[in-house]
Amino acid sequence: MIPIRVLLSSTKRITPLNEASAVSPKKRVVVLLSGNGSNLQALLDQEPDYQYKIVGVISNLPGAFGLERARQHKVTAMELDHNVFSSRTAFDQRLAVEVDLFEPDLVVLAGYMRILSPEFVEHFIGRLINIHPSLLPNYKGLGTYRRALADNKPKHGCTVHFVTPELDSGAQILQASLDIRPDDDEESLRRRVQIMEHRIYPLAVHLVSTGRVQLRGNGALLDNQLLDPLGYQLREDALDAPELQ
Ligand code: GRF
Repeated sequence: MIPIRVLLSSTKRITPLNEASAVSPKKRVVVLLSGNGSNLQALLDQEPDYQYKIVGVISNLPGAFGLERARQHKVTAMELDHNVFSSRTAFDQRLAVEVDLFEPDLVVLAGYMRILSPEFVEHFIGRLINIHPSLLPNYKGLGTYRRALADNKPKHGCTVHFVTPELDSGAQILQASLDIRPDDDEESLRRRVQIMEHRIYPLAVHLVSTGRVQLRGNGALLDNQLLDPLGYQLREDALDAPELQ
């Protein structure tokens, strides 16, 4: 038996009165993470404004601070340590079972630092999204701030996309960009990009939750129209996007 430590357990679904009586109930979201969880925090903080509800958080790394954030919000938080599994496939099979127990409509990767097996991705295809700190398709993978600065790029940013088996390559939903300043270093750029992440990720989760955004083949639809392959474009100084709210 593989040990799992459940920090705060309430996987039984309890339907609050206002959800039962609402015309369209909020969509159930499970968040997967490995670390700090500032994006989880933004998702939790903005939940009241949007059409989703976070019902569970799972970390593959024991002690991830994101779990503490979940617990503070009385959200079920679970550690599932990948080190005690014999292979990626075995871990991902178990992860899929644990995620499914939450009966999620949507699975949100928020700093989940592990490559997912194709089987896991296929199981959740169309309801699995990620945020990446670059203007995809540029700078897939790690070290995006350092690489953008080293290349003297004028812009950097972040992208929310559907997850497909190929790393950081699924259909793009929202992309937010900023102008790199002459005095930016890795840390300042990371801070500025994360401020944008914390705005666009809750919005993107909302858009998928309402069904306004959907995966169709290799592309993403917004209100039944195929989005530009780069995703809906937002800028640092205009993230409100009332047309998307
Ligand atoms: C974010 O920058 C996100 O783009 C990337 O991982 C980071 C997670 O940060 N996928 P946090 O744990 O949400 O603070």
